[in-house]
Amino acid sequence: MAAAALGQIWARKLPVPWLLCGSRRCVSSSFKATDLHLEMTKEPHKKPNPSEPLVFGSTFTDHMLMVEWTRDKGWGQPRIKPFQNLTLHPACSGLHYSLQLFEGMKAFKGQDQRVRLFRPWLNMDRMLRSAQRLCLPTFDKAELLECIRRLIEVDKDWVPEDTGTSLYVRPVYIGNEPSLGVGLSTQALLFVILCPVGSYFPGDAVTPVSLLADPTFVRAWIGGVGDYKLGGNYGPTVFVQQEAKKRGCEQVLWLCGPDHQLTEVGTMNIFVYWTHEDGVLELVTPPLDGVILPGVVRQSVLDLAQSWGEFRVAQRKVTMNELLRALEEGRVREVFGSGTACQVCPVHKILYQGKQLHIPTMENGPELILRLQKELKAIQ
Ligand SMILES: Cc1ncc(COP(=O)(O)O)c(C=O)c1O
Repeated sequence: MAAAALGQIWARKLPVPWLLCGSRRCVSSSFKATDLHLEMTKEPHKKPNPSEPLVFGSTFTDHMLMVEWTRDKGWGQPRIKPFQNLTLHPACSGLHYSLQLFEGMKAFKGQDQRVRLFRPWLNMDRMLRSAQRLCLPTFDKAELLECIRRLIEVDKDWVPEDTGTSLYVRPVYIGNEPSLGVGLSTQALLFVILCPVGSYFPGDAVTPVSLLADPTFVRAWIGGVGDYKLGGNYGPTVFVQQEAKKRGCEQVLWLCGPDHQLTEVGTMNIFVYWTHEDGVLELVTPPLDGVILPGVVRQSVLDLAQSWGEFRVAQRKVTMNELLRALEEGRVREVFGSGTACQVCPVHKILYQGKQLHIPTMENGPELILRLQKELKAIQ
């Protein structure tokens, strides 16, 4: 049953090295999808009205997935149950010491009414890497994905249908140690919740964002944990986001190092489409050097651009000085962010060292951004 059902929702396997860590199946003990216990809600909620805009992450479906682990008993039975509050010990280590990680991916309803996840293997890989970084017990990625698939199946009527809409899938995994010592968790809790979400850019248009690039704020550093999706990486960014707003910018361009390398945009990876100093047209994004989150859309943009073979595709560091020079010399075509929320998002302004830099992304089409958006949409 599992194999046939899996085929319906797994994204097709792609010829990319999706194994970011470990083997495909982590053979240590794991919960099993075949043990899933299902408790349907007795009080289904009203589904959102398709004509009303959905605020990201504020509407939840009727059910959630939950699995608990204890040192003594190992993984418990995975359960799909009515969406509900958690009961946590006040000393829960996930709350005190940020032993917390999460993922974000989307499921789309196709014209054939089938629901498909977009490259969920990459999210499962990233989630397992994050779990290993926090010394939380590992799990079998295939089993978790099958549990998520079953959860989506239960709540499939919540997947919106209009263009650009989707079901956002949020797996969360926390240390649930009920004591105050900083150390290994003897208890852990993994759960998954689902949100129907609207289109990031209504219609086919794309709206550009302005960025604050202030090197006094650093999101992640070499040897740190910027390349893991840990809750602790996000809380401290709220202050910087507010600072950006105060200075008239919409998002933060995260710089790193004395040479002010461009690393990420808000919660997106960054791409520059330009003619490089050597005269070659290229799409460049910073390399996965431990500072940058290995984004699923980042990988997809690289894969697509590479498959076209029309310009050079590079993973190399880019500094603010290089960008300034390229802007002066008129070599920049498009700058954009990539991420699950928006797919690709144009950048038109960067406030850097008191100067407002104009990025000619929109004047240039934005040809590449619109092409990527169209191709990604078609695949999804
Ligand atoms: C810091 C950061 N960078 C990049 C991304 C983009 O990753 P993805 O393409 O997997 O959504 C995200 C979003 O998850 C993020 O939080």
